[in-house]
Amino acid sequence: MNNPFKRTTVTSALPYANGPVHIGHLAGVYVPADIYVRYLRLKKEEVVFIGGSDEHGVPITIRAKKEGVTPQDIVDRYHELIKKSFEEFGISFDVYSRTTSKMHHDTASEFFRELYDKGEFIEKTSMQYYDEEAHQFLADRYITGECPHCHAEGAYGDQCEKCGTSLSPTDLINPKSAISGSKPVMRETKHWYLPLDKHEAWLRRWILDDHKEWRPNVYGQCKSWLDMGLQPRAVSRDLDWGIPVPVEGADGKVLYVWFDAPIGYISNTKEMCAARPEKFGAWEKWWKDPETRLVHFIGKDNIVFHCIVFPAMLKAEGSYILPDNVPANEFLNLEGDKISTSRNWAVWLHEYLTDFPGKQDVLRYVLTANAPETKDNDFTWKDFQARNNNELVAVYGNFVNRALQLTKKYFDGVVPVAGALTDYDHNTLQEFADVKAEVEKLLNNFKFRDAQKEAMNLARIGNKYLADTEPWKLAKTDMERVATILNISLQLVANLAIAFEPFLPFSSKRLREMLNMESFDWVNLGRTDLLAAGHQLGTPELLFEKIEDSVIEAQVQKLLDTKKANEEANYRANPVHADIAFDDFLKLDIRVGTVLECSRVPKADKLLQFKIDDGLDTRTIVSGIAQHYQPEELVGKQVCFIANLPPRKLKGIESQGMILSAENADGSLSVVTTLREVKPGSEVK
Ligand code: 2FM
Ligand code: ZN
Repeated sequence: MNNPFKRTTVTSALPYANGPVHIGHLAGVYVPADIYVRYLRLKKEEVVFIGGSDEHGVPITIRAKKEGVTPQDIVDRYHELIKKSFEEFGISFDVYSRTTSKMHHDTASEFFRELYDKGEFIEKTSMQYYDEEAHQFLADRYITGECPHCHAEGAYGDQCEKCGTSLSPTDLINPKSAISGSKPVMRETKHWYLPLDKHEAWLRRWILDDHKEWRPNVYGQCKSWLDMGLQPRAVSRDLDWGIPVPVEGADGKVLYVWFDAPIGYISNTKEMCAARPEKFGAWEKWWKDPETRLVHFIGKDNIVFHCIVFPAMLKAEGSYILPDNVPANEFLNLEGDKISTSRNWAVWLHEYLTDFPGKQDVLRYVLTANAPETKDNDFTWKDFQARNNNELVAVYGNFVNRALQLTKKYFDGVVPVAGALTDYDHNTLQEFADVKAEVEKLLNNFKFRDAQKEAMNLARIGNKYLADTEPWKLAKTDMERVATILNISLQLVANLAIAFEPFLPFSSKRLREMLNMESFDWVNLGRTDLLAAGHQLGTPELLFEKIEDSVIEAQVQKLLDTKKANEEANYRANPVHADIAFDDFLKLDIRVGTVLECSRVPKADKLLQFKIDDGLDTRTIVSGIAQHYQPEELVGKQVCFIANLPPRKLKGIESQGMILSAENADGSLSVVTTLREVKPGSEVK
């Protein structure tokens, strides 16, 4: 296929600066983006890699309030920590800036103003909760109350964390302001909306017809948004943290964080170009030239913003290019559980480096080997150890070490002259060339997991070559043959240093030093004259070290301790409720029903819709357990439900009851069922 592009702008999602980064961030976004950029750089392509921190939004203000500091204090703290973690893991940004920079404020402000002047927004007034004591409108997260669904206290205006149902603030029973504790009142407020409905037709054509090559998860999510019909989206908020809306009469209003954050990619590009114009040229060439290819690396929760909302903003402005691809990843779990900042269920990058100094590449390798490219994946410490010991040490490290040590032993570390090649030598080199072509194809298609697997196969070929030819045995009889074998082996080692550079940059750098290697381009990959005969090698060292069981056990123990602490905290937060009268218990009508049908509720990640045989009839129940069960696994099962709750509407569906689940300390839910099958409609007493 002809490549119509001259250069590539690669962006990676700007992480929120309200906490440190963990392995989920690295696996989902930053390592794949870095592999891709390093690969393009090695190919001598023109590319920039744009990163930065996302420093606006309500969660940052909530965290600041909780800690009694300013939002600026919070973002200053985490921006530095995140930036450092990325540097330490070799994420090779050309710029890593922040959305509180002046450049960004100006850029986002101008962007809004341009769309505003062109009449690309609609203005709407709506009724929103207002705190009369704190004199401010309340973001959804700042309103708490009783959940209309499970009746838990402390549900937020956008979601009940207890039952997982998504809510609007007006759904809450007895709403309270989280700022002053007072009862909020409804007040009229004006906001600006991007009319996505007007953009729907071209977005459909552009994505569904012209970008069929996007990953199935990305394409599928876009299709389902488009099929449901797009609605205007508010691009401003009533908040005192963010970029002020740059129009008259917008006091107390800021740009919605999801409006300003993607513009951050542009602002940071501008900053980069201004700092080094001789290297990067004018910023416009990275954003406005149709010969530039724009690629966004993100996690799956960001798909709609990067594939629909941001492109609509860019198109509305009119002079920007649109993304050519958006390789979004699914999520990485940790030891079978969802990674969670609030439950401290994560491997934090800064902590990893304290426990495994110098082993950045091992983590990069394992995260790529398990990259959640097509489905959610799991990180386990056992797998981490196995991949290190059985692949990095036993295959790649072993081959490199043997080739270098044997050369040192027999030829004083000088590359020996190769004699005539045997058929076996030729076959090995051919096999090597084939695998190289495969690695390249996979990288071009954003298949990083498979690409790394193929790179490891290159090392396997080398390892097998040495094992089959056994130069240590031939050394007694045929030094000429030994010279040929080691010459070929060293060429393969040099090739590996190049092939692995995008994946394992620290090891490649060390290997390059050990080989004393000058040229280092992707185009040279596959050549058998990377190291000239007579070339003096550097000092050989072990590239990777075995990781012992005790080290892994310590990490597993750390997680078990976290789990235990969470369970205890959960128990303390959920003490047994005060006694109730027996008559009150009798009022509850709990029954057993058989699930006849079960399906996901569109546009609600957490909800499942059930049709239940309740003994008399069938009834519909909507339950917030979609993240814990596949609909199919519940069909035919018996569940317990409360039969005498008044019906409630959830996402437009009338729910006639509530299915009972038990909640684990980690937040996972297990539906309550009976030990033996009973007749549907049986009472639970
Ligand atoms: O989901 C997130 O972490 C967002 N801060 C990502 C923003 S990406 C871009 F738009 F800046
Ligand atoms: Zn609830």
